[in-house]
Amino acid sequence: MGPVPDLDDVATACAQRLCRADRVLLASHIDADGLTSAAVASLALERAGIPFEVVFKKQLDETEIASIAAREYDTVLFTDFGSGQLDVISEHERAGDFEPVIADHHQPAVVDGQRPSASGTDSHPAETEFHLNPLLVGLDGASELSGAGASYVLARALAEVGETEPPDGNRDLAGLAVVGAVGDMQAVDGELVGANTGIVEEGVAAGVLEEGTDLTLYGKQTRPLPKLLEYATEVPIPGISNDEAGAIRFLESLGLDLKRSGEWRTWADLTDDERQTVASALVQRAVERGVPADDIQTLIGTTYTLTEEPTGTELRDASEFSTLLNATARYERADVGLAVCRGDREAALDRAQTLLSNHRRNLSEGLTLIQERGVTHEDNVQWFDAGSAIRETIVGIVAGMALGTAGVDADKPILAFASKDDDETKVSSRGTGPLVGRGLDLSAVMREAARSVGGDGGGHDIAAGATVPAGEEQAFVDAADEIVADQLGNKS
Ligand code: C5P
Ligand code: C5P
Ligand code: C5P
Ligand code: ZN
Repeated sequence: MGPVPDLDDVATACAQRLCRADRVLLASHIDADGLTSAAVASLALERAGIPFEVVFKKQLDETEIASIAAREYDTVLFTDFGSGQLDVISEHERAGDFEPVIADHHQPAVVDGQRPSASGTDSHPAETEFHLNPLLVGLDGASELSGAGASYVLARALAEVGETEPPDGNRDLAGLAVVGAVGDMQAVDGELVGANTGIVEEGVAAGVLEEGTDLTLYGKQTRPLPKLLEYATEVPIPGISNDEAGAIRFLESLGLDLKRSGEWRTWADLTDDERQTVASALVQRAVERGVPADDIQTLIGTTYTLTEEPTGTELRDASEFSTLLNATARYERADVGLAVCRGDREAALDRAQTLLSNHRRNLSEGLTLIQERGVTHEDNVQWFDAGSAIRETIVGIVAGMALGTAGVDADKPILAFASKDDDETKVSSRGTGPLVGRGLDLSAVMREAARSVGGDGGGHDIAAGATVPAGEEQAFVDAADEIVADQLGNKS
């Protein structure tokens, strides 16, 4: 039995279909989840002795699917996308262009008027038999299973039906699946939940993963201690956050030997006792400076360590690993990220680290831009247009980071525009757990509002995106504002 029993049957069917193929074209999405999905799936194919080629796409639209259909492959495996384009893919399948296998976690598109339900496989669109998606068995695709998780379920099934049995039944790939889930921000209150926990357990049992309680600050593996604290602005601590001298004074006041050969050590490099001392002092300082108790709680949380990866590299921490991957694929270097995931620890890692410093600078500049320009508030949504100042591939990450900061309401979804080219504009949207609880479904908002102006979109209830014709931005905002009003039961 696999890590997600409800998906066992469909996973086995998908694996058997792949084993019948002479070769497979594997298509995946250009983000951390898409890269880890491709790595998990391609390693599993390789171990099963099935030849493959990997291609990455920013978005899977009609043009991209047509370009895939034009390739001489009878079998196409889509990972981390495909469900949202089921209608288009099914048409190609009917035309005999290729047979699809899909391992995804996005909202499925409606095929032939059938609306996929959460109640089981009865509404499975008949055309596409090999469709593995948590949403089809009542699991939440935004928090319970990622694209890499779905690919991992498939990899586990491939281990069983393939010609040769890989060591541990592919359970060593659980670490990559967890990186994908963390990269898609699937953690709820800092912790992976639902089907994701089954994958964590398998990774721990296989000895590739450790789950622990630790400081949640970003950069524990790689940042020198003062930088770790100075840049930790998710929970601002007066006198430490954004305050280099303050962070150094705080560390020096602890009576520990936190430098080695004159250089500051990293969190990863501390002993358990030293970590305990710094963490307690940090929490105490936050309390003294009046940081709200709820925020203080988020300073400590669940962390996922990839125990086979070298200490002091991004690869050891699931959160840092995922950011490293976004820094490659979102800048047209998916090849670098895939190589890192598949085990190239030299040339590719070095290249990825250079891309990462560039990505970090872009995120920080993007956030500053939104804060300086501010957002426009409609009744039910808020939005800003970054033009070409923020890359369309990262505008969603920036929008998510901006939600809840000064001037950006946490009670309204945010829409963020970025220019793709002269003809097309990318829109990213981000919501919050409480808004989804009240009925927000950004996947439907993006798809319907975009279609009403001649574009298309999709995604998850809490985070979704679309492409619209340039010039239709305001019409799109108006349409989205109305749909959100309907979903939340607001009067418009
Ligand atoms: O392809 P798609 O699945 O990439 O992407 C998920 C996106 O949704 C990520 O960019 C992530 O930041 C966002 N997300 C979020 N909050 C959640 C879950 C996902 O912002 N709770
Ligand atoms: O880039 P990615 O989507 O993986 O970022 C996830 C989260 O990690 C961001 O929302 C941000 O809070 C944090 N992050 C950070 N510093 C960075 C990159 C990401 O704090 N340089
Ligand atoms: O690009 P962005 O980070 O805003 O994407 C958020 C989510 O919406 C991702 O899961 C992405 O795959 C999805 N999306 C989509 N169709 C689009 C754009 C984004 O399904 N046209
Ligand atoms: Zn994903």
